[in-house]
Amino acid sequence: KVEVDATKPLVTIQPTMYGIFFEDINFAADGGLYAELIKNRSFEFEYPWMAWKHLPEAETRFNTQNELTIYNNSKGNPNNPRVVRVDKRDEKKSLGLQNEGFDGIGIKKGEKYDFSALARLNRGSISLLVEILNSKDQVIGSTVLNLLGSNWQKIEGVITATDTDPKCKINVFFKGAGQLDIDMISLFPQDTWKGRKGGLRKDLVQLLADLKPGFVRFPGGCIVEGRTLAERYQWKKTVGKIENRQQIVNRWNMEFKHRPAPDYYQTFGLGFFEYFLMCEDIGATPLPILSCGLACQFNSSEMQPLEELDPFVQDALDLIEFANGGTDTKWGALRAEMGHPAPFNLQMLGVGNEQWGEEYFERYAIISKAIHAKYPNIKIISGTGPASDGELFEQAEKELPKLNAQIVDEHYYKEPQWFRDNATRYDNYDRNRYKIFAGEYAAQSSAVASPENKNNWECALSEAAYLTGLERNADVVYMTSYAPLFAHVNRWQWTPDLIWFDNLTSFGTANYFVQKLYANNAGTKTIGIKSNGQNLTGKDGLYGAASVDEKSNEVIIKLVNTSADAQRIDLNISGLGVKTNGKVISMVEKDLKNYNTITEPSKIVPTESVISIEKGKTMLTLEPYSFKVYRIKK
Ligand code: AHR
Repeated sequence: KVEVDATKPLVTIQPTMYGIFFEDINFAADGGLYAELIKNRSFEFEYPWMAWKHLPEAETRFNTQNELTIYNNSKGNPNNPRVVRVDKRDEKKSLGLQNEGFDGIGIKKGEKYDFSALARLNRGSISLLVEILNSKDQVIGSTVLNLLGSNWQKIEGVITATDTDPKCKINVFFKGAGQLDIDMISLFPQDTWKGRKGGLRKDLVQLLADLKPGFVRFPGGCIVEGRTLAERYQWKKTVGKIENRQQIVNRWNMEFKHRPAPDYYQTFGLGFFEYFLMCEDIGATPLPILSCGLACQFNSSEMQPLEELDPFVQDALDLIEFANGGTDTKWGALRAEMGHPAPFNLQMLGVGNEQWGEEYFERYAIISKAIHAKYPNIKIISGTGPASDGELFEQAEKELPKLNAQIVDEHYYKEPQWFRDNATRYDNYDRNRYKIFAGEYAAQSSAVASPENKNNWECALSEAAYLTGLERNADVVYMTSYAPLFAHVNRWQWTPDLIWFDNLTSFGTANYFVQKLYANNAGTKTIGIKSNGQNLTGKDGLYGAASVDEKSNEVIIKLVNTSADAQRIDLNISGLGVKTNGKVISMVEKDLKNYNTITEPSKIVPTESVISIEKGKTMLTLEPYSFKVYRIKK
C-alpha cells in the first residue's frame, strides 16, 4: 500500500533541479556540438599540418616550383599566427590541400555546406576549387572561388552534397599561378541549430533542448583547471572574433596514444558567448565555472600565489559584466558587438571545479569575497573535490560553512549499488547549512573510463532510484547533473556518457531518458509518498518520489522497482477529484545489462499510456526493473 498526500505541498523544487553538465571531453565541442567539420582549420595544432595532406602527395615534398609552406603572421594575428603560403609557379601542375576532418567528415545528401577561408592574393591569379570526396574518393560536391586583391578577405562558397557518407574528406586545389596566403579553412553544414552560420550541431542541441534542463554548467570539468595553469580555460580568450580566439590543447588529449602528436584541441569556436546563447535558446540558467587559480590537482600541484590572484578575481568580475552589464560597459559592449545587446541574466557561477584542500579554500575565500562585494546577488558554487565521502569530503564539509558557501558541488562516480543504497543520502543533511549541487554523477558498470563501462539499464535504473532521494530532499538539493554529457563513439576518453554520437547521428542512452523523465516531470513542490508511514527508499527494491505541478494542476508520482519481481501497488492519492485522468510514462527492461547503441538506439526508451483513477485509488503493477512516471490531473 502506497499513500500519496497531494493535499499538503512540502518543499519547493527549484527550477534548476535537473540540469546539464557540459564539458569538452570525448570530442564534445570540437568535432561534436560545434559543427565545424575541418580539423585544425587554422594550422595552430602543435604540428601545423596535422589533419592536412598536401596534394598531390607524391609530388609536393621536394617541389620547388609549387610549394605549400607555413609562416607566422604574428604581427597580423598574434593569437592565431600561422598561415599557409601557396606559391604556385607552374600553372599546369595541380596543387592542393586535403583535410581529413574529425576521423572523416560527416556529409548528408541534399544538404548545403558553407565553405569559407581567409585569404589574400599576393600576386598572380589563383582561384580555389573546393571538392568534397566520399569514402570512395568520388567527388560529391564542389565549388570554385575567386580571389581578388591583396587584402585579407573572407571567401565563401556553398556546396550541395550528392551523397551521404560519415567519412568524407575535403580537397582545396589552387588553380592558376601566383602567390596566396590562406588561413581559417572552414566547412559548416547550413542546417545547424536555429540555422546559425558557423553554429552548433542541430541534432545534439535538440537532444539537450528535449531535456528541458534547468541549467547548463560549462565549460567543465577538468578543462576549467587545465593540466597546467597556462592550459586552464580562460573565457576571455573564447569571445570576440572567431579568428582571434587562441587555441589550446585539450586537457583530455590523452598522452597522444596511437598518435604522433596531440590532436584534441579547443578552437573555442564554441566559446562563452555561444554557451550563453545556447542556454538562452533552450531556456536553461547559465552556470559558468571558473578557474580558482589551481591547475587540475590530479595532474599537477601548480597554483597561483595568493597575492597574485587578481587576474582570476578580475576574470570572474568581468564575466558577470560580460553576461549582465550594460552595453556602455567594456564587457557588455563586447557582448552587444557579438550580437546580443540584451543581458544574458547570469545568476550563478562556480569558483573552481573539483578542487580540494587548504589551497582551494584559501583561493575560494578571496575570489568569492570579491564577487560578493561587487555582485551580492550572484550565487556562488563551491567544490568538494572528487570524493563524496572520506577525508577530503569531510574537510570540505567542515571548511565550506566557515566560508559562507551557498551551493556546494558534490561528485559521485560510483557502482550502481551505491546509488541504490544512497537514496537516503540527503534525508539527514543539515538544513541550516549550504545547498547541494550534485554536479557530476553517473553509475559505473565497470571501471571508470573503460570500454566495458556501459550505459546499461542497471546503471540508469539505479540513478532513477537515487534521484527519488534527491527530489524528496529538494529543500537541500537545488541542482543535479549527470556527467559527462557527450561522447563520440570513436573518439572518447571517458565512459559512461549521457549522449553518444558519430559524424552523422546521435542517440540518448537509457540514462538520458531517466534524466529526461525527471527534468520534464519535476513538478514545483514535493508531496509525501509513503508506505506504512515510511519513505520509499529501497525496501523490496521500491523507491518513490512525488510532487505537484502547481502550474498544470497535476500530481506527479515517480516509482522505481529495482527488484527482479513485479510489485503490485495499492495506490491511494488524497487530494484528487472523484474521477481523474492522466498518463504513465514507463521504462521497463528485463535485462539489466542491456544498453542502447548507435546502431540500435531505441532498445531502452520510454513508452506512454493513459490512466484513469476514481476517488484517488488504483492498483498498479510495477514490472521487474522498471521506472514509471505518473502524471495525473488533480
Ligand atoms: O566528468 C569527467 C571528469 O570527472 C570531470 O572533468 C571532472 O570534474 C571529474 O573528475
